[in-house]
This record gives sequence, structure tokens and C-alpha cells, in this order.
Amino acid sequence: MIEIIRAAKHFLPFLGVTLLKMWHDLWYSSTIKRGQKENLAELMVANHTLEKGLTMPKRKLGFGYPKVRGIIDRCRKYIKDYTPNHIEIQCSIDILQQYYNLHIDNRFELPDDIVKGIQEVLKSKLYDTKLCYETTKSEFFAPTDNFKDFALSRHSVRWYSDEKVPDETIINAIHLAQTAPSACNRQEIKVYVIATDEKKTEVLKLQRGHTGWGHQADKILLITADMGHWQCENRTSAFLDAGIFTMNLLYAIHYYGICACTLNAHLSIKKQKQLRSIVGYSESEIPAVFISIGNAPEKFMITGSQRVEYQIIHQII
Ligand SMILES: Cc1cc2nc3c(=O)[nH]c(=O)nc-3n(C[C@H](O)[C@H](O)[C@H](O)COP(=O)(O)O)c2cc1C
Repeated sequence: MIEIIRAAKHFLPFLGVTLLKMWHDLWYSSTIKRGQKENLAELMVANHTLEKGLTMPKRKLGFGYPKVRGIIDRCRKYIKDYTPNHIEIQCSIDILQQYYNLHIDNRFELPDDIVKGIQEVLKSKLYDTKLCYETTKSEFFAPTDNFKDFALSRHSVRWYSDEKVPDETIINAIHLAQTAPSACNRQEIKVYVIATDEKKTEVLKLQRGHTGWGHQADKILLITADMGHWQCENRTSAFLDAGIFTMNLLYAIHYYGICACTLNAHLSIKKQKQLRSIVGYSESEIPAVFISIGNAPEKFMITGSQRVEYQIIHQII
């Protein structure tokens, strides 16, 4: 009863703040705004889905035509309306070229409109960006004693061997990731290691973003944040803590020589309920993100995941 009275007292101010915040996030999102910035942002995402296709373990030729056509159209329009001199455009051009070369090298005939489209946008190439590449287990986990090289060597890996990751290794990584800071040392982040094949399959059914490779993962980690550590007005900070912990965990996993890829947890309410019944976390926890993990095969492909220029993401004021 006391809890209901407390909730009622906080409900109206909370609703007001939440509605304002929702309006801000809706208004400034790319769902509503369609300017230069939003077009480039969407292109980067489209580029990434195509480059993921280029690095798939069981890649078939002739994949992703709608995606390729979409990137060509967006590039054409952007180059016509603005300029090709943006890293997102140059990145599209390189990924399209890599896609084209792969098919030419394997004597696979692409549809005419795609060939013409790629040849057309290729004329706007100004400089090289980072392409998808093949690496080996020993190159990927080459020992280093400095953080810069270590950070540069971590990449999402979507290609795993059949070898199991020992529970002990993953527990060690979670322990190391506890060095992550959290707001006022709340430490509200939890990790669920989904290890049985049955539960892994059930969880993966709820996630979209692992097509063609996720089933190979040895384990799926689920990161949650417990809202019981937060006042309702500051609840978004729980996601911030989850993000910081996740990055630390990704580094820890890399340090222990395990491959990983973060997977979004954009789940509908219905899917969140299903996830909770599969994993069994408490009602006060919210799922923040998944991480697929597995051992590295001897050789595998990595996406380029080109970053934007560091100059545009900072400002000294
Ligand atoms: C919150 C978050 C969600 C992500 N979701 C997915 C996903 O669903 N599928 C996927 O293949 N990669 C996913 N990724 C991985 C990103 O694509 C990857 O981190 C990004 O391209 C940068 O590449 P890097 O990790 O190799 O540096 C996600 C990453 C983050 C941080």
C-alpha cells in the first residue's frame, strides 16, 4: 500500500518529464528529420549491413541485392544533392567496390542495374576507407603490452569455431569487467551467461541482427540493469552504466582470447516478457544488450567498420 501511495505521488511529475523527453527524442530522431546528417547516418548503417554480408562464414554469392540497390540510390542522391566528400559516401563506394570485385573474381554475374550503379558511384571515389579483411587467430590475438594496440586490435567477430569457451574463462572476463565505473558505484549491472543450446536458440529467436552466423556462437551473454538502484527520473543512467560495463566486458573478453559481437536488445514488450521467462531475471531488471561469444577459427573475416573522422566528433570550447 505504501508503495502505491509513493508511486502515485511521483507519477505526475514523472509523466511530465517523460513526455517532454519522449517528444525531444521523437522530434530529433531520424524517424522525423530527414536532413543531410540523418541521410549520412542511415547510409553508415546500410553500409554496415552490407559489409557484414561480405564477412559471413557461409557467404553465398549474389546476396543482398535490395541492400546494394538501396546504397547505390542513397549515394547517387547524396552526391547529386551535396558532395561525395564525406567518409560515409566514400565508405559506401569502397564496400560496393569490394562487393563488385568479389563477384567478378568468382565469375558471378550481377544484375545489370547493380553493375551500372556501382560503376557510376565509383566515379566519385576520392580516397580509401577501411575494407573488410581476412585475419588469423594468431594475428587477431597477437600479444601486446600497450593499451593503444590492444584497443585497436579489438573488433566484433561474427565467425566462431566449434570449440567451447570454458565457463571459467567467461567468469574471469566478467570479474575483470567489474573494474567498470558505475554511477555512485551502484553496480546494478548483471550478466547472464546463456550456455545451453536449447536456451541459446530460444534467446536468439528474439533478436534480429545475427542472421547467418549467430547460431555458431558458443554462448550468449545478456547484460541487464537493475532499476531498483535508481530513482525513476534518472532511469536512463542505468543504460549508461550498462554501456560502460559492456565495453569493459568486451575488452576483458578480448583479453582472454575469446571472440565476441555485441547484439542489440531492441525488444518489444512481448519479447522482453519471453526473454525474462527464458533467462529468469527479476522483474526490476531491464535487458540492455546481448553479446555473442565463441572461440576463433584459424582464419576468419572482419568488417572494416570505418569510423568517422575524429575531428568531427570533438570540439574544444
Ligand atoms: C549496442 C550495440 C548493438 C549492436 N548490435 C548488433 C547486432 O544486432 N548485430 C551485429 O551484427 N552487430 C551489432 N553490433 C556490433 C556493431 O555493428 C559493431 O560494434 C560496430 O560496427 C563497430 O565495429 P567493431 O565492434 O568491430 O569495432 C552492435 C554494437 C553495439 C554497441
